[in-house]
Amino acid sequence: MNLPVSYSLTLLIWSVVGASASHILGVFVNVHRSQLLVHLAVARVLLQRGHQLTLVTTLPLEDDWLTADSSARITHFLVPWQLPSKKEQKLFESTDNFVTRLQWTLSQLELSGELLSQLAWLHFMQHVPKPRYDLLLLGYHFNEHLLGVAAHFDCPVVIIHTQQPIGFIHSLMANPEERWYVPQPYDSRQRIGFAGLLFGLWEKFSEFLARKVMQRIYSTHFPSPRYPSFEVMRRRVVLALNNHHMISEGPIAPLLSSMLDIGGIAVEQSTVDSALAMRLANRPFIIFSLGTRFTWRTASIHLEQSFAEAFAQLAEYDIYWTYDGSNASGINLTHTHIKLAKWWPQTTLLGQPEVRLFITHGGKGSLSEALHHGVPLLGLPLVGDQRANLRKMQNKGWGLTLDMHNISQVELLNAIKRLLTVAEFKDNIKRDSLLYRDRPLNASYLTAYWLEYVIRHKGARHLYSPARELNFWQYYLLDVRLLLYGSSGIIAWTVLWLERTILTI
Ligand SMILES: *[C@@H]1O[C@H](CO)[C@@H](O)[C@H](O)[C@H]1NC(C)=O
Ligand SMILES: *[C@@H]1O[C@H](CO)[C@@H](O)[C@H](O)[C@H]1NC(C)=O
Ligand SMILES: *[C@@H]1O[C@H](CO)[C@@H](O)[C@H](O)[C@H]1NC(C)=O
Ligand SMILES: *[C@@H]1O[C@H](CO)[C@@H](O)[C@H](O)[C@H]1NC(C)=O
Repeated sequence: MNLPVSYSLTLLIWSVVGASASHILGVFVNVHRSQLLVHLAVARVLLQRGHQLTLVTTLPLEDDWLTADSSARITHFLVPWQLPSKKEQKLFESTDNFVTRLQWTLSQLELSGELLSQLAWLHFMQHVPKPRYDLLLLGYHFNEHLLGVAAHFDCPVVIIHTQQPIGFIHSLMANPEERWYVPQPYDSRQRIGFAGLLFGLWEKFSEFLARKVMQRIYSTHFPSPRYPSFEVMRRRVVLALNNHHMISEGPIAPLLSSMLDIGGIAVEQSTVDSALAMRLANRPFIIFSLGTRFTWRTASIHLEQSFAEAFAQLAEYDIYWTYDGSNASGINLTHTHIKLAKWWPQTTLLGQPEVRLFITHGGKGSLSEALHHGVPLLGLPLVGDQRANLRKMQNKGWGLTLDMHNISQVELLNAIKRLLTVAEFKDNIKRDSLLYRDRPLNASYLTAYWLEYVIRHKGARHLYSPARELNFWQYYLLDVRLLLYGSSGIIAWTVLWLERTILTI
């Protein structure tokens, strides 16, 4: 009887969604797959809200994107281009020399402009008829020159950053940085006093040089007077979505209303593989994955054996090992509790009640998933920010970290056994997991709300911090301070001089 009512209600809801559907452009280029996952989680939220999306990526999309029933609302441009860098990256990661690192970073940045000359990119930019986009979502990765895309299509911009805000984001949004008590995401400890000050200045200097490079790329590809200037476009960024949850993950720091915490969005948007969940035996298990940047194809047989032999002795647990090697010659395959696959659905496994431990490389995405589900960790850092992530993880008492380079079977087994038997690790991460998930609104909801807010209010310029109009001198009040301190100095000096002159008379 009330069928027609609910039917017309459904129709009504659909027409409302249809009428307010917007067309959003997502530019997610030159990033690692783990970063792309965060960007795509934001895009997925918009799809669920009924919007139309145009996505530009340098990595192919997973199949589930293209076969989704919403695929009619997605236009995808693939620009298959990568920074040519692999060999030098090792060099970069093995050096602690600040200057070498900066030089390397700047040269990489310089190269990243080549993306804008790729045919596939030009095809996207010169698409006719020129589409009208309501918003540009830019996956932030030292690519402020890509704000030219927003200039080209004349739309407001929101950036997505895959971790706690860094100096570049603070500068872009004019968010107070207050480094003297807010540790940076890549520091595992707070630098204090004079060392902290010097390091902060060095970083600001590096940022300045990097911005100059981005500005140069911008002016080459988006020349004035046809396009607004680089600085004007930087001010057009309305919101920064940061994949971080300050309250539970720390550090506590000032945040403007244009800085939004969306930590956990990737977990919320990941699909649970219920078929696998049904198939799992009712046995406790351990997950082992070293992320997408590591491959077993080139790993030493000794390393493979160390893990295999340690796992062989844990027969009361199933081990889900993400293994992409070709011949598994170091692994005794008669141990059926060791389960190898090229890819295990990590989020699904982490969400099961029988999971006991997660052995991970310590990427931000994996740590967030473990925190969301409250699973203790054994960290084996490989590159980049993983070492710092895992040091923080260990400081919070969620698990242990081992050095991958000299790992032995005995060491591995001891660590695993300790993590399985000492309840403290589990208790700590379970407690923090409650904090992580205790929010008035989830990350997906917040994201949808604020992105639609920006579209509704035509770029929401009122969210801008007035500090974004100030230059360096004005922001740090350098002119005023110089005048104040300078004149006090002169007065003090004059008084002293007078005193001495009068006394000697
Ligand atoms: C987020 O919150 C909204 C509103 O409370 C709810 O409808 C939605 O199911 C939640 N989404 C996720 C992924 O938890
Ligand atoms: C498997 O790999 C190891 C080490 O890479 C190699 O020594 C061995 O010959 C390979 N075995 C097969 C069957 O390909
Ligand atoms: C593999 O493990 C089984 C069972 O523990 C054992 O009998 C066999 O000798 C092992 N094979 C190798 C090559 O080590
Ligand atoms: C492995 O190396 C680290 C530091 O490089 C060291 O602290 C640790 O004791 C080493 N472990 C073993 C088993 O040699």
